[in-house]
Amino acid sequence: MKDIVKVLKGTGFSSISAQEIEMLENYLYCIDERGMIVKRLSPSNSHYYSTLQNAKDEHKLVELTEGQYLLPGFIDLHIHAPQWAQSGTALDIPLHQWLNTYTFPLESKFEDTLFAKKVYSHLVDTLLANGTTTGLYFATVHEESSYQLAKICAEKGQRGLVGKVIMDDPDQNPDYYRDNDTQTALEETERFINRVKALHEETIQGVYPVITPRFVPSCTDSALDGLGKLAEAYDVHVTSHCSESDWEHGYVKERFGKNDAQVLNEFGLLREKSVMAHCNFLSEADACTFKEKGSAIAHCPISNAYFANSVIPIKHFHDLGVEVGLGTDLSGGYDPSIYSAIRQTVISSRVLEDGVDTEKAPEDRGGRSNSRVTAKEAFYFATAGGGESLSLPIGRLAENYAFDAQIIDTTISQASMPIFDENEPLEDIFQKLLYLTKRENIISVWVQGEKIANKKESYTYNGEY
Ligand code: GUN
Ligand code: FE
Repeated sequence: MKDIVKVLKGTGFSSISAQEIEMLENYLYCIDERGMIVKRLSPSNSHYYSTLQNAKDEHKLVELTEGQYLLPGFIDLHIHAPQWAQSGTALDIPLHQWLNTYTFPLESKFEDTLFAKKVYSHLVDTLLANGTTTGLYFATVHEESSYQLAKICAEKGQRGLVGKVIMDDPDQNPDYYRDNDTQTALEETERFINRVKALHEETIQGVYPVITPRFVPSCTDSALDGLGKLAEAYDVHVTSHCSESDWEHGYVKERFGKNDAQVLNEFGLLREKSVMAHCNFLSEADACTFKEKGSAIAHCPISNAYFANSVIPIKHFHDLGVEVGLGTDLSGGYDPSIYSAIRQTVISSRVLEDGVDTEKAPEDRGGRSNSRVTAKEAFYFATAGGGESLSLPIGRLAENYAFDAQIIDTTISQASMPIFDENEPLEDIFQKLLYLTKRENIISVWVQGEKIANKKESYTYNGEY
C-alpha cells in the first residue's frame, strides 16, 4: 500500500472497445499520488481482501453504497465557452446568421476579463456538476480572457484544453470582433501557448493550450500556415470546425477548390492531436486523411441537427478507423451535459438509418444502412474515444489511466431511477444510467484522483487526505 493514497470500492463500467463494456462489479480501484489507477482488483483476485483491509486500516478507503455506480468522467471535445451566456437561445436560424447576429456580438464582450471570469467560472462548475472532467474549449480572440479560462480550469481541478480563437481575415470577420492583424494573432497564439504550458506545470490534472483557428472561412492563408508551423514546433493540440454546414463547406470549396479536410491538412493542421468538430460533409478520401493523420472527429449531434440539418454517418467513419469523441458544442447545442450528447447520438443515428420520408416504403425512405449507434458505442465516444482523440490516458476505469470518475446515485430522492429488481442485470443498469442520469444523481466528480465536485457526502469516507 506504500504508493497507494486512495482506494475506491464499487461497481463501475468502462469501455474496452466501442463494442465491449467491462462491468466491474465491486472492484477496487487503487490510486497513487499522481492520481493514476495503478491497480484494479476484482473480488476474485487473491490480493483483494488484504488490499481492502489495508485500505480500511490506513483510512484510505472510499466505498460506494448500494445503488451507487462509478463511470469514467466524460470528455467534451467541443465547447464554445463564451457561448454559455446564450445557451438555449437563437437556435432556429441558419449558422451564418446565428454567428453574425448573436454569437460574434456576444463573444466580443469577452474583451472584458471580469465578465469572462464570471461566465467561465459558472460554466466550468456546471460542466463538472454534469460529470464532464475534461473539456476542449474554444475561448474567444482575446488572449487574456482565454488565459483566464485555462486558469479557472486549473483552479477548479478540471482538465481543460483551451484555445485562443484565431479570426484574422478582415474581409470575413466583423471589425468589432477579430484579430487586429495576422502577425499579432500568431504572436498572441504563441505567447498563449507558452503561458498555458507554464500553468500546466502548476496543476495535477493538466491544462493544455490548443491552436484554434475558428474555421477556415475566418482565417487568412498566412494565418493558417503560421498556425500549422506553431502546431509542429510546439506539438500541441489543434482544433477547429471542419465541413460543418453546406454554407461553410461550400465556401471553402470555392476558395480553395477542395474540401476543408484537405485544406486543413495542407496547412499542417491535421495531426495526431487534432480534433475537428462536426465533419458532417467529409468525403471518403477526407475520412482516410483523418485516419492516416490520427486526427479525431468531435461528434456534436445536437448542434448538427440545428446548424447542419444533417446527421453525420459517424458509425461509418469510426468503422473506417477515424477516432471519435463527443461534443456538446455549447451553444450550438444547448445542453451542457454529455449525457444528452450520448442520447442524441443514438437517436440521430436511428433517423439516419431509417430515413424520414414516411410517404415512401421503408426501404425507399432515404436511410443509410449500418448507421445505428448503440448506447455502448455512444458511451465509448463519450469516454475512451474522447481520451484517444486527445492522446491522453483518460476515459477508462483501467490501470495506467487517470482516475477521472463520476459517482452516480440511482436512489437519490429527487431523481431516483426505476430499479425495482435487486438482481437486475448490470447491463440493464448501465443503460439506465446513460438514459436517466440527471445532474442530481451525480453525487461526486473526481479528476486525477481528487474529488473536486459533489453535492452530497453519501458514501463512506474513512479518512483524511
Ligand atoms: N462555425 C464557426 N463558428 C462556429 C460556432 O461558434 N459554432 C458552430 N456550431 N459552428 C461554427
Ligand atoms: Fe462549434
